[in-house]
Amino acid sequence: MTALNTPCTGSRCAPACLLTIFGATGDLTRRKLIPAIYDLAVEGLLPENFAVVGFGRREQDEAKFRENLRAGIEEFARLPYDSQKAAWLCDRIFYQMGGYGDADSHQKLETRLSELDAKFGAAGNRLYYLSIPPEEFGPVLENLGQIKQKVAQNDAQTGWRRVIVEKPFGQDLPSAVELNQLIARYFSESEVFRIDHYLGKETVQNIMAHRFANIMWEPIWNNRYIDYIQLVVAEKVDVGTRAGYYETSGALRDMVVNHMFQVLSLVCMEPPTSLSADDVRDEKLKVLRAIKPMSPEEVRENTVRGQYRGYKQAQGVDPESKTETYVALKLEINNWRWSGVPIYLRHGKNLEKRVSEVVIRWKDAPSVLFNDGPDPLKSNMMVMRIQPHDGFALRVNAKVPSSNEIKDVRMNFDYHETFGAEPPEAYERLLHDAMIGDGTLFTRRDESESAWGIVDPILNAWSQSEDKPFEYEPGSWGPEEAVEFIGKTGRKWHTPRLMETVTG
Ligand code: BG6
Repeated sequence: MTALNTPCTGSRCAPACLLTIFGATGDLTRRKLIPAIYDLAVEGLLPENFAVVGFGRREQDEAKFRENLRAGIEEFARLPYDSQKAAWLCDRIFYQMGGYGDADSHQKLETRLSELDAKFGAAGNRLYYLSIPPEEFGPVLENLGQIKQKVAQNDAQTGWRRVIVEKPFGQDLPSAVELNQLIARYFSESEVFRIDHYLGKETVQNIMAHRFANIMWEPIWNNRYIDYIQLVVAEKVDVGTRAGYYETSGALRDMVVNHMFQVLSLVCMEPPTSLSADDVRDEKLKVLRAIKPMSPEEVRENTVRGQYRGYKQAQGVDPESKTETYVALKLEINNWRWSGVPIYLRHGKNLEKRVSEVVIRWKDAPSVLFNDGPDPLKSNMMVMRIQPHDGFALRVNAKVPSSNEIKDVRMNFDYHETFGAEPPEAYERLLHDAMIGDGTLFTRRDESESAWGIVDPILNAWSQSEDKPFEYEPGSWGPEEAVEFIGKTGRKWHTPRLMETVTG
């Protein structure tokens, strides 16, 4: 067997385990999961006692399956391709065909895992990754759960069994509750890892460091000083080949209820007591709980739906489709810190560029002193860039040399420029965290259900309304109506421009 030559030692070394990926023939495994595992191995974070089993419904030649994943490593891994290191991982990749709801297939998988466990010394530890269509969650969880119970009854020394669940965690609140109840029947919450890859992004994690490792923000991070917050996640890509999924999802379910709410709760939460998984998630949960659910009337006033021109013609899309590919929302967080501060969220596909940013805009300084220049003073603003050009920019005012004029200037921090190294991919961090049993960057059950509690009234009001989403041009910034929507309050959308600029 090929040696890795990267010793895995110390507290960050993942424990011995077997990773089983359900839905292993899908794109996620080849583009994200296996390349992330390779990067972890190269970084010295994986032990020798490790192997991956891909489980899928399709018949697959194991050697071809391996070769396809090896090519995926070459194409998508973050770290340079090293054939010996890739061979180390490929020696540990296996394929098992079976039906998701078929008890017999699951029993065969369990037997195979036991054999591999004996071969690799995986100490009975199992990590299951569910990268499958939502309708298959139930059948797979039911079978995994029953085997887990059986093994626990027969053997006192079974190691741990954890499950990573990919979104969507339900379609609405009732289906999310149903899924969570099923999971809870067999797995305790500390064994469940609801993955939200935004939480694995370094820049999202940096929101907490930025807020709580610096003393200067906290006193002005509230409704006394902040005028509004905007969160934009814009995508240049359209729905591509995913129309089948997207038709049943739409922008609100695909990005807002999960990724954007997670980012928002990090921006708005109170300082947690510690960085432990539950302390952090308790605080995030409080933010979600404080978001006021909208009445149908408020949904009309505070939301805008859009659909890009040409979406209905895409393969797999209903020609009468009302699925939104763009959404703009105004939310209120009803607590002492945020009461009265509008929170604007904007997300869409087929927009001008790919950019994810949080914009914090402070109130105007009193216009008492520097108010005789040609332009009014600009208010302070911070843009936290999640992607691309990870970092943040700050707008402050300064005196123009040899004049009394005041001009706004930018201070810029760029991750790459400062730290040099490319940050780890989200999936590297998240897979490793699941292996070491750290749930901080995963969505807890109550967070997920609270998020659906905010979104359900919006979905209901939309589905009961005769209105259709507003059309927008591909490559634009969304429908004009969204500009009018924010314009009503005298504000405007922040326009992401160059990495160092803060505009608006
Ligand atoms: C996924 C959504 O969760 O996130 C996709 O299902 C979206 O529709 C993707 O394109 C965006 O992720 P990122 O990391 O490219 O911003």
